[in-house]
Amino acid sequence: MNLFRRKSLALLQQEANAEGAHTLKRTLGSGALLALGVGAIIGAGIFVRTAAAAGNYSGPGVIWSYVIAGIGCAFAGLCYVEFAAMIPIAGSAYTYSYATMGELIAWFIGWDLILEYALGAATVAIAWSEYLNKLCQAFFGFAIPYALCHSPFQTDLATGVHGLINLPAIFILAVLTLVLIRGTKESANINSVIVIVKVVIVLAFVALGWKFINPVNHAVMVPPNEGGDAFGWAGVFRGAGVVFFAYVGFDAVSTAAQEAKDPQKGMPIGILGSLAFCTVLYILFSYVLTGIANYRDFSVVGPGHEAAVAYAISTYMPGYGWFSNLITVAILAGFSSVILVMLLGQARVFYSMANDGLLPKAFSEVHPKYRTPAKANIMLFGLVAIFAAFVPGDIVGDMTSIGTLFAFVLVSIGIIVLRKTDPNHPRPFRTPLVPLVPILGVAVCLFMIYHLGWENWARLIAWLVIGFVVYFSYGVRHSKLNKK
Ligand code: ALA
Repeated sequence: MNLFRRKSLALLQQEANAEGAHTLKRTLGSGALLALGVGAIIGAGIFVRTAAAAGNYSGPGVIWSYVIAGIGCAFAGLCYVEFAAMIPIAGSAYTYSYATMGELIAWFIGWDLILEYALGAATVAIAWSEYLNKLCQAFFGFAIPYALCHSPFQTDLATGVHGLINLPAIFILAVLTLVLIRGTKESANINSVIVIVKVVIVLAFVALGWKFINPVNHAVMVPPNEGGDAFGWAGVFRGAGVVFFAYVGFDAVSTAAQEAKDPQKGMPIGILGSLAFCTVLYILFSYVLTGIANYRDFSVVGPGHEAAVAYAISTYMPGYGWFSNLITVAILAGFSSVILVMLLGQARVFYSMANDGLLPKAFSEVHPKYRTPAKANIMLFGLVAIFAAFVPGDIVGDMTSIGTLFAFVLVSIGIIVLRKTDPNHPRPFRTPLVPLVPILGVAVCLFMIYHLGWENWARLIAWLVIGFVVYFSYGVRHSKLNKK
């Protein structure tokens, strides 16, 4: 038994070219892929983590935190694109690792991607439920009963009421799962509408807020260090780890490679285009937010920083109170598309793993009419819904980040490996300056992992150990390569 057996590029290419009733359907053009990227990227991060990073670590230097995290993502993104254009098949980082570093590492990365996509979707569904409640209160003066929108592990400190189940979180997951089963093209269309709504609202915040920028707030862009990683450049770096979450998701575009009409063109546009677009948007947004309110304000707006943007508007933008409700609409819209693309990505990773025999076959069955991995979608809904219904939301945001960074590291290493092992394979897109770009990708991502702290390293390691056990009790025996 060879744990490092590799799947050949020729076999992958064959799978990518296969078209038929049992394969995914190629329906997505470059525009849809670009929107898918933006759909996955802009969500909670921009609204919540900008203030959290500015208030605790970076001050107005959060702009630099965004630049650093964006550069790290760009290095990794360039590597993703080489793979996604060369091997346009559904498994993304999992498949790339299978071709380069062998089955065990591929399994690890597939398992790790569950942190990014499935846990990411659950976390955002929980946040969606919170914001829905806010919106109900603002517009209709009505609140969903506490017990029905919180996990049993949560208690309302004011009333002593315990949570029971998070019904709105299950609701949004169910709706988006149905959309995904109905068709990838249909899902992409809905995603595009949501993307337009949230981008317009973010741009409106930048445009309206611009004239309320107080130059005093930007007088010192990187406040002096106050010890440890509180402010100064140490804080800017720590802040990069915090705001990294806001970029999570652009790589999910690569999981749709098997459904791209022209992956050679669509993958670079979808992955790098969405990343570049959101980086600019994030920098503008953080510039305006830290210009309107002083970063010190954000140290005291509450632990979750959910209310930071609304606070800045209501305190410093007189006459624009109505706009903070619109921001809530943008957040809800943002969350929905993040969940949609995360669920889409996770189902595709499961699909590929099951195709290879590492997971039960049901995950790779394609709906005869809609040509989507419907069973994978339904089982995934069950898994994510249990989590979203019964677990508090604050546990897993950083786990999503560390899981993603770990995948980025392996994909970057994979590019160097594949250039050595298969130098002549046609590459429609070549990552520039190999090995420099992948090495920088690895370095920046490891740097951010380091700054996420030992608790998150421990959680990642624990998760990978569980993955080990699952692999040795199932995957290793059922692997198709094993049968060959
Ligand atoms: N990037 C996504 C967000 O910010 C995960 O919500």
